[in-house]
Amino acid sequence: MYRTHKNGELRLENLGQEVTLAGWVQKTRDKGFMIWVDLRDRYGITQLIFDGDRTPKEMMEKAKMLGREFVIQVKGEVIERVSKNANMPTGDIEILVKELTILNKSLVPPFTIEDETDGGDELRMKYRYLDIRRNSVKNNLIFRSKVAMETRKYLSGEGFIEVETPYLIKSTPEGARDFVVPSRMNAGQFYALPQSPQTFKQLLMVGGLDKYFQIVKCFRDEDLRADRQPEFTQIDCEMAFVEQEDILNAFEGLTRHLLKEVNGVEISKFPRMTYDDAMRKYGNDKPDIRFGMEFGELNAVAQHKDFGIFNTAELVVGISVPGGNVFTRKEIDGLIEFLKRPQVGASGMVYVRCNDDGTFKSSVDKFYDEADLKKWAEITGAKAGDLICVLSGVADKVRGQLSVLRMEMANRLGLRNPKEFAPLWVVDFPLLEWDEETKRFHAMHHPFTSPKPEDMGMLDTNPGKVRANAYDLVLNGNEIGGGSIRIHDKQTQALMFNHLGFTPEKAKEQFGFLMNAFEYGAPPHGGIAFGLDRLTAILGGQETIRDFIAFPKNNSGRDVMIDAPSQIDDEQLKELCLKINLPL
Ligand code: AMO
Repeated sequence: MYRTHKNGELRLENLGQEVTLAGWVQKTRDKGFMIWVDLRDRYGITQLIFDGDRTPKEMMEKAKMLGREFVIQVKGEVIERVSKNANMPTGDIEILVKELTILNKSLVPPFTIEDETDGGDELRMKYRYLDIRRNSVKNNLIFRSKVAMETRKYLSGEGFIEVETPYLIKSTPEGARDFVVPSRMNAGQFYALPQSPQTFKQLLMVGGLDKYFQIVKCFRDEDLRADRQPEFTQIDCEMAFVEQEDILNAFEGLTRHLLKEVNGVEISKFPRMTYDDAMRKYGNDKPDIRFGMEFGELNAVAQHKDFGIFNTAELVVGISVPGGNVFTRKEIDGLIEFLKRPQVGASGMVYVRCNDDGTFKSSVDKFYDEADLKKWAEITGAKAGDLICVLSGVADKVRGQLSVLRMEMANRLGLRNPKEFAPLWVVDFPLLEWDEETKRFHAMHHPFTSPKPEDMGMLDTNPGKVRANAYDLVLNGNEIGGGSIRIHDKQTQALMFNHLGFTPEKAKEQFGFLMNAFEYGAPPHGGIAFGLDRLTAILGGQETIRDFIAFPKNNSGRDVMIDAPSQIDDEQLKELCLKINLPL
């Protein structure tokens, strides 16, 4: 037996017991005739003491050879510490070592295995197995496991069946590029890795399984960000004989269960907001509603004077930043520069200081008097001490820019409390989205999403206005899940493909299997998928999903530990009927 106890376990009640422990050497302090070693495993740290008077000489000699991260086993007696450490669960005791076995040596690790490490990102990724020994990463993985387990428990309890769907499939058009896998047995042909199990889960509904879920890897070849990885995990779900309301209730239940079990937070009914309202009030389809700063539209009270920039704008819109009047001129200039960066693209910003004595001072005093500015304050909800920030331009663009400013202000003012949870359903998404590059409409969610029956009439006349039975679950300003009620009849599906620019032949070639299935009694159905990585990160009070993935890719999509992707040899290329790599 390697150990009788774990390293976080022993207390004063264990005094006098003979125990065996195993783990890694966190650190050693050698005072000559006394050596202390901190022994670490997943469960904690126990202090070992090698005492020249009481530990056999041979063991003292061995202890002097120990280095950081050596793997050892010790046998000894639990004794009371002379100087106790109240910050450590095992801080009242130590182990008087009688026997030491070195199970494995270690090179000096390239960074310190401590909460505050000296290792940079790339180095820690290259030695991820060492990084995982650190509390922060280890605890995140344990946390993730709990979220996954509670998800399984809840959904199984609600009668969902976990079914695995294939990874080697044909491409599903979800908006990103596919990762493809060449087939050796079918020369010149490729599988695609699923961007999601979308079509399979619909087929499981045609198959009569009624309630499906799967915790499943998905693959998308898209540009990476803090909340995106090329391979990520979904909690993928589908239900038959449901309307949107049934899905929202079912998965509000799951989210509520997770918040309660994992975070100890109880939230009653989740608020709902239409996509149009979210865009109008927050300039964003995933608003963070933990704080206010709702948009105030100012056209009516800003376009009656000689200020040309506002007069020619489609939209003049502002927010009131609480307590923002403390910002210095220099800080405000910095903000304007921030907004003018190409990533944001604003042309400038007008601001109004709301003074404590109720007066206003704006950057456009030449054009607007106190009475005008008072109206701006009323519409944006500004109070004394606030700063009103106003942008103008093309409505869609300017809303996006103001949304960036709103989030930046909230971050700066510490309004995004990671311990507070504000879920929100965003509903009534548009069915289609205009793509400037290809000059045509794309499905905003995916091509299997059902239009709202009452909007069907506009498919030909005003396609951009047609709303879908599609919804997203937003948590603290992050899209953690999205889904829709599906089309379940062949005619509507064919109509949708047609609107998305598929010829009947192309639609048949790509989705013939689904169209065929719809001819054999497909039930009405719908579903949702949560991003497990995102959900876990947010429940864990963070927004970078990489920290909650055991072996993530870096920002260029590389695994720097195993060094992938990599070239393959000519033999393998030949066998797969792929051309030999040409020089770049
Ligand atoms: P969607 O594309 O909205 O829907 O994805 C569902 C959820 O998956 C997460 N997600 C990601 N997480 C990390 N890295 C990524 N690259 C990434 N892409 C998406 C998000 C998102 O809300 N088949 C549909 C679901 C359905 O209709 O039922 C789908 O995949 O949290």
